[in-house]
Amino acid sequence: MTEARFGIYIHWPFCESKCPYCDFNSHAVGFVDDARWRAALLAELAHFASETNGREVGSLFFGGGTPSLMEPQSIAALIAAVRQHWPVADDLEVTLEANPSSYETARFRGFFAAGVSRLSLGVQSFDNSRLQFLGRRHTSAQAVRALEEAGGIFPRLSFDLIYALPGETPDTWRRELDLALAYAKGHVSLYQLTIEPGTPFAKARVLGADESSSVALFELSQRALTAAGMPAYEISNHARPGEECRHNLLYWTGGDYVGCGPGAHGRLTGPRGTIATRQIASPDAWLAAVEANGHGTAKGTALGPEERRDELVMMGLRLTDGLDRATFRASSGLEIEEAIDRMRLERLAEEGFLVVDARGVRATARGRRRLDAAIRTLLV
Ligand SMILES: C[S@@+](CC[C@H](N)C(=O)[O-])C[C@H]1O[C@@H](n2cnc3c(N)ncnc32)[C@H](O)[C@@H]1O
Ligand code: SF4
Repeated sequence: MTEARFGIYIHWPFCESKCPYCDFNSHAVGFVDDARWRAALLAELAHFASETNGREVGSLFFGGGTPSLMEPQSIAALIAAVRQHWPVADDLEVTLEANPSSYETARFRGFFAAGVSRLSLGVQSFDNSRLQFLGRRHTSAQAVRALEEAGGIFPRLSFDLIYALPGETPDTWRRELDLALAYAKGHVSLYQLTIEPGTPFAKARVLGADESSSVALFELSQRALTAAGMPAYEISNHARPGEECRHNLLYWTGGDYVGCGPGAHGRLTGPRGTIATRQIASPDAWLAAVEANGHGTAKGTALGPEERRDELVMMGLRLTDGLDRATFRASSGLEIEEAIDRMRLERLAEEGFLVVDARGVRATARGRRRLDAAIRTLLV
């Protein structure tokens, strides 16, 4: 895998309806003026291009919301603009998130022709009653059709499933995993249902899994996916070797990226250190700002050494390979032991949660089961 240290994220903040568990910056609206939004995203890309001149783009990611609701010609125009503004890697990875509705499936060929090389489908479940509970608009049959169609069109394909729904047992989750393995093409993301504050699920007091059942479900996934040749390379992401999402690896290893579109985050490193950029979150306010000023940046904040360390450790330890010494040095300017208290590292290693060696620091199988607690211990 080539190391790509620069990428671009484009956020599309609209969906056909809002799922009751989701707190992403996504909004269900009746009508979106695609041409106007395309022009604004193109303007913001041009703005960031002038600040990151000459850097080679390894990955481009259209996320949301539901970016597969964009017109294929808008996706094509944005990919063409990236190629015009920046040099791009020969094997540029272009991912598009999509929902498995029939409306979008019919447009897959258009997205591929536009330059999308990797599709990430929000399947969520293969069971109609689970899909209904999750407030999804598609059925299990539509999800399967979308996977089959996409598999015949895109060179790379991933899909998302959500587990630990109320009442989940190892048996119910095993059935989902078996179907996932039947359709997996090289990459799947398995997310434990989290109850996000302020969502309809939180208001209805839907309960997430307790710790012991979520650990059991997590272990089951690890065993099943590893046996099928798709081990976890990140706590929620599984891939056949070589099929890892390069764009997400860029985030998790502290690489730089431009973030365009409402609420998008970016990380740009220059002489002043790493600047965290954040675009205006409200779609209307972002659109107005871009039309007036050429960009919708709400904030550009220089990250202090501690903030940078915290994010590098939090993201890096989610990776199976953990924190690599050279990558950590390149992203933070520090050795791992200068950034993290040596005594705490040693204690967690002695207790069997971490391995600390010449390569770097990574969680053991035991550590991955209690990852949040281990990270909290390291970062206090
Ligand atoms: C931006 S969405 C994906 C694209 C598309 N809008 C969709 O829903 O199919 C990213 C993924 O995050 C996951 N997700 C979102 N909210 C979640 C939550 N509260 N708990 C677990 N997974 C969640 C879902 O699996 C979803 O596919
Ligand atoms: S899960 Fe996907 S489709 Fe549902 S509201 Fe969130 S971004 Fe939109």
